[in-house]
Amino acid sequence: MSGIRPTGFLHLGNYFGALRNYVRMQDEFECFFMVADIHSLTTHPDTSQLKHHVRRVLAENIACGLDPDKVALYCQSHLRETGELYLYLNMLAYKGELEKTVTFKDKVKLQPENVNAGLLTYPVLQAADIIIHRATLVPVGKDQEQHLEMSRNFVKRFNHRYGEVFPEPRAFNFGNELMRVPSLDGSGKMSKSENQSATIYLADDDDSIRKKIMKAKTDSGPTKKNSPKPDYIEVLFQLMKLVSDEEVVKKFEEEYNNLTIRYGDMKKKLAEDMIEFIRPIRQRVESILKDDDYIRDVMVKGAEKARASAEVTMDKVREAIGLRYY
Ligand code: TRP
Repeated sequence: MSGIRPTGFLHLGNYFGALRNYVRMQDEFECFFMVADIHSLTTHPDTSQLKHHVRRVLAENIACGLDPDKVALYCQSHLRETGELYLYLNMLAYKGELEKTVTFKDKVKLQPENVNAGLLTYPVLQAADIIIHRATLVPVGKDQEQHLEMSRNFVKRFNHRYGEVFPEPRAFNFGNELMRVPSLDGSGKMSKSENQSATIYLADDDDSIRKKIMKAKTDSGPTKKNSPKPDYIEVLFQLMKLVSDEEVVKKFEEEYNNLTIRYGDMKKKLAEDMIEFIRPIRQRVESILKDDDYIRDVMVKGAEKARASAEVTMDKVREAIGLRYY
């Protein structure tokens, strides 16, 4: 089970860090993938673009290979049972631990004028999202580790107080290291909202991809054979490894090591390979977004699957808590 907040266009980092993992999981596990529209209200109260964003995230997930016939692909707000579970979990979550959460403290700094209770209980809602399907594996990035640890704590408390209902969820990814896709300026990783000119989005057209890559910082080249690469050059190689053929990467590695590399040529090649990689995804997204009936069907079917799973859990939950009076 995993969720993506509909707060911006997906980028290459989301693709290699998350989506590719989801697509692999769908053939091996029963999967629930959710657009976290309610969570987005904690930081984005203006909903004028919400519908547009939710539909795009759905389309982007499908365009990257998620198959709505194999997985439950649904919107958080369509699964009302989550709200009920969230309410019960709130009585197992302590103010102190919620206030200590790193993401909460970060958001308090970012939006001091809107420190709402939803922000404080964000990890409680996330726990409800996960355990309502009694999910065990949650494909998420490092930044979500603490939320998952809190989910496990809520599960332990629930099971301890009311009897064993939930398994403990944990972060999951194929391979050992989560892929970290660097931003083009070498300043960190690609991000949905910061530094858009150093991030490659799945929605970027050929020309913007070319411009972003050609603008990336380089220098006059290495002066000593086999020397270590500066960060901003390493970034270009890392991106190339994601989208170019092995021989291409090898060729530029060799040229770097024997001092014949021309960064202009390398960036041109990277840009063309990146364009070839992004273009089919972008085109699929565009055609999905034109098909209103299809998108509606995906949402309806996804919500039905999610509800079937949630109803079973909520039955057990009400029974366990002791909310059955006749
Ligand atoms: N908090 C997650 C993020 O910001 C999104 C999310 C919401 C989520 N509910 C979830 C992730 C459930 C995994 C499971 O990326």
